Amino acid sequence: MNEEDVKNILGLQLPTDPRWVDLAGISLEDILTDHAYCEQKAATTCISLIQRYSDKEKLITALAPVVTEEWGHFRLVLAELHKRKLKLGKQRKDEYVNRLIEFQKKGGSPEERFLDQLLTMALIEARSCERFKRLSEGLNDAYLRRFYRRFMESEAGHYTLFIDLAETYIDKEKVRKRWAEWLAYEAGMIRQLEVRGDRMH
Ligand SMILES: [Fe+2]
Ligand SMILES: [Fe+2]
Repeated sequence: MNEEDVKNILGLQLPTDPRWVDLAGISLEDILTDHAYCEQKAATTCISLIQRYSDKEKLITALAPVVTEEWGHFRLVLAELHKRKLKLGKQRKDEYVNRLIEFQKKGGSPEERFLDQLLTMALIEARSCERFKRLSEGLNDAYLRRFYRRFMESEAGHYTLFIDLAETYIDKEKVRKRWAEWLAYEAGMIRQLEVRGDRMH
């Protein structure tokens, strides 16, 4: 995946600041901790979606295995921490995700709220995939580069899954329009957020 792919495949409008990967490489315990919680949140959010939309058969069928996969990712990261004699630290406030939640339509129709929830997930998966790509290319440790390459591939699949789910239930044109708004919002936000090596986003 090169620069163009990030834009074409993931749709993201702003690549990650190149300084980020260097910072992440020097705060390994922090970045692995943060990554572990990201995986955990991905699993719990999928569980919440299944609970909230239990009438949507395709959604529950698609998300049930993702819960297992994300939890598997959490376990992989935890094992990596322990292997390196590092500890799972405390969960931090996730400014990136909180700001995305602020953009969700609060007073909208059930369909609009549903769409925003799926697109929030798609965006987190896309940005995570892009960040994993940076790590898989820019870290000094060859083992960790391979480690992150696996995550990159898996999150790219999740990004498309959430977009496909949105299009399964909602008019494609509506999905496309709202997705463009999300991408613009996210790029503006990335520009504002401080570049820190102790967090995935
Ligand atoms: Fe994951
Ligand atoms: Fe994921």
